[in-house]
Amino acid sequence: MRVLGIETSCDETGVAVYDSADGLLADRLFSQVDIHARFGGVVPELASRDHIRKALPLIHEVLQAANTPLSAIDGIAYTAGPGLVGALLVGASIGRALGMSLGVPTIGVHHMEGHLLAPMLEAQPPEFPFVALLVSGGHTQLVRVDGIGRYSLLGESLDDAAGEAFDKVGKMLDLEYPGGPRVAALALEGRPGLYQFPRPMTNRPGLDFSFSGLKTFVRNTLAAAASAAAPEAVSRQDKADIAFAFEDAVVQTFIIKCRRALQQTGLNTLVIAGGVSANLALRAGLQTMVEKERAQLFYAQPRFCTDNGAMIAYAGCQRLLAGETDSLALDVKPRWPLSSLPPLGQSAPQ
Ligand code: KG4
Ligand code: ZN
Repeated sequence: MRVLGIETSCDETGVAVYDSADGLLADRLFSQVDIHARFGGVVPELASRDHIRKALPLIHEVLQAANTPLSAIDGIAYTAGPGLVGALLVGASIGRALGMSLGVPTIGVHHMEGHLLAPMLEAQPPEFPFVALLVSGGHTQLVRVDGIGRYSLLGESLDDAAGEAFDKVGKMLDLEYPGGPRVAALALEGRPGLYQFPRPMTNRPGLDFSFSGLKTFVRNTLAAAASAAAPEAVSRQDKADIAFAFEDAVVQTFIIKCRRALQQTGLNTLVIAGGVSANLALRAGLQTMVEKERAQLFYAQPRFCTDNGAMIAYAGCQRLLAGETDSLALDVKPRWPLSSLPPLGQSAPQ
């Protein structure tokens, strides 16, 4: 089965063609980062408008790159949620209209299921069951995964998502949006040991997270550094030291909680997915931890950690192959809990 995937949930227009026999044939991405950067965050209306401008040209491009005429597409997968409602509606409308005109089934994919399954696109994919750490701009969750659609939530952030915390700290450090990759780059110049930041919620049992206190700690540390440095602004080295301490606190927190999740479930496979899973310090820290635990770590290549069409094409293809399709109503879900998804093949065709 050959599936066209369309991702438009936030500020990236992603499209891909995935074939169940031949794998990923092509993918294309347009990032709206430059459009939103001057506002310091995503402006939903601008996001929707740009998806409208970019989706069709990108679909033409990806079909050509995949050497696939529209007539050879067997199904269409689009992101149905969670995300920005206007942005989601663009991908859903295009996906549904294309499906209807071609007479092929369409399916609305859960964005986080897409992230979760992105490591399946790699040459050596993880095997079920596993523990997944989902870390994106909007979600931070630890999930036990027994198969596609068989998700049990083990823990989640009670406030900010990890990516959101990275982005807010980026703003405090006067870095451009999105802050995550820029905080990580600045942290490389930071000196270890100069600051000790708290590792939230690690000294009590459980697998939940909280990042808002850590964010406040960064703000207070910066304010203290600023008053010490007055009248000049905080130096780049100070900022790099703070970026390092922040990133390290996040990484150590994830190491502690992921180890706990592996021990609690008795599983020996850990998968990390979502934008923050592109973070090299996180990958390295978790790799060392899993080796000690005699477990294995899996993640997607960096371009499939952040939003992309390939993960939507892959996840949609699995569900379409299992006989699922979406209902006739054009339905997008800005909020949509991952654990409410049905196991593969168990949502009746409508
Ligand atoms: O998965 P994603 O592309 O979009 C959502 O579904 O939210 O994740 C985006 C988030 C942003 O907050 C971004 O700053 C963060 O992932 N991010 C990173 C890195 N690359 C992206 N955070 C830390 N280190 C990175 N290398
Ligand atoms: Zn995402």
